Amino acid sequence: MTIGCDVASMPDISRKTLLKAALVAAPLPFVAGQFPARATVTPTPSCDDGDDLTPDQTEGPYFKPNSPERTVLTGPGTPLTVSGFVFGMHCLPLANVLMDFWQADTYGNYDNVGYTFRGHQYTNAQGAFNLTTIVPGLYPGRTRHIHVKVQAPHQPILTTQLYFPGEPRNNTDTIFNPALLMNVRTVGSGKEGTFDFILNVQGTPPTTPTPPPGGTWQAGKSYQTGDQVTYGGATYRCLQSHTAQPGWEPPNVPALWQRL
Ligand SMILES: [Fe+2]
Repeated sequence: MTIGCDVASMPDISRKTLLKAALVAAPLPFVAGQFPARATVTPTPSCDDGDDLTPDQTEGPYFKPNSPERTVLTGPGTPLTVSGFVFGMHCLPLANVLMDFWQADTYGNYDNVGYTFRGHQYTNAQGAFNLTTIVPGLYPGRTRHIHVKVQAPHQPILTTQLYFPGEPRNNTDTIFNPALLMNVRTVGSGKEGTFDFILNVQGTPPTTPTPPPGGTWQAGKSYQTGDQVTYGGATYRCLQSHTAQPGWEPPNVPALWQRL
């Protein structure tokens, strides 16, 4: 007997939802007096099964190669953090993605001699990045923005820009694209921005345990609510009907599989 729900009555489960569940469910180190940093990351509305790729933008005149590797860009101004994930197609997080940021200082000037407010970093194993900087100043002809080049290993470079909501010049800057708006909130005397990038590359799951001998779970197989499988020596019960995907091993997706 089938209990509860079937495929026809189940709402579609987006891959984003499942992967977010996997990321949120991943073990987090506990530091006394602190919340895990990842708990503050707001799930993005941008990565969905529609595969809305992050649009590219003009590089502009101020890019310089060979920026230093660093996640903290310092100088006077309003503190700003920008964090998020980089996904490939189907919302699979991408590790080791090169992200090269450059921006104006608080007065709207680029450092074209040195590397102030220029720096590159790499996404971590979960596809996450985190930039500490300041809110860039305005300069003539443009709304407020941060430049970035994003390149997954052995893949083409995406050159684009990130924008701030509520900026009056967003309405008049012809380069501005609302698809590149960050979510920005004020925290104390600073700002926190989040944005998730989606690249036109095939992603690989951040952690794909090797199916153990004797495990009955299989990628590509359709499971119904109530089905039971074994994986890694444990038994799991299917909570929602779905077709299994690599990276959706039962320990990775507690929204789908309940360990018995
Ligand atoms: Fe610029």
